[in-house]
Amino acid sequence: MSEPASKPATTPKDFPRRSFLRRALAVAIGGVTGIVPAIVGLASFLNPLRPKVQAKQRPTGSDAEGFYKVTALDSLTSGTPISFPIIANRKDAWNTFPAEPIGSVYIQKTADDKLRVFNVTCPHAGCSVDFHADKQGFLCPCHNSLFAMDGVHSASSPSARDLDSLEYKIENGDVLVKFMNFRIGIKEKHAQ
Ligand code: FES
Repeated sequence: MSEPASKPATTPKDFPRRSFLRRALAVAIGGVTGIVPAIVGLASFLNPLRPKVQAKQRPTGSDAEGFYKVTALDSLTSGTPISFPIIANRKDAWNTFPAEPIGSVYIQKTADDKLRVFNVTCPHAGCSVDFHADKQGFLCPCHNSLFAMDGVHSASSPSARDLDSLEYKIENGDVLVKFMNFRIGIKEKHAQ
């Protein structure tokens, strides 16, 4: 009596099914490995600490040392100080605000072709000073602090210190200013 033929371990019909399962598994693994980084990225984006980190970023428009391009040196004539806005792109956690003024400076070319650069903010209480040719100086309209052309405050001024001078440099014929604000209402010049 002949033995019944044993059933083969695999049949030709099994091959397409295995191939399908292998492909399905590969797709599932690929999907998981793609989703995990996406979830991590989303969690990082929604992290409440993120706005604080971004708030510390300097406004764009300045170079690595914080100098902003303000005007061409040729545009300045000796004598009268000219007011210029400092323009920068600003970012918070969600938005970019392109090309906004973040402050203003007075630039004066002196007779020896040097520059004087001042933040326009009055150190007394934060109003903006105006140049007055008749007074040959800067007058603050809020409480009448008067500053000479070199920024020195008059003895009768309520401002406790001189106008805040700013660093500058000339690059490729342009004037670049290291713009910054300082604490108001105190005698010392401390950056904010
Ligand atoms: S804010 Fe300028 S004098 Fe007071």
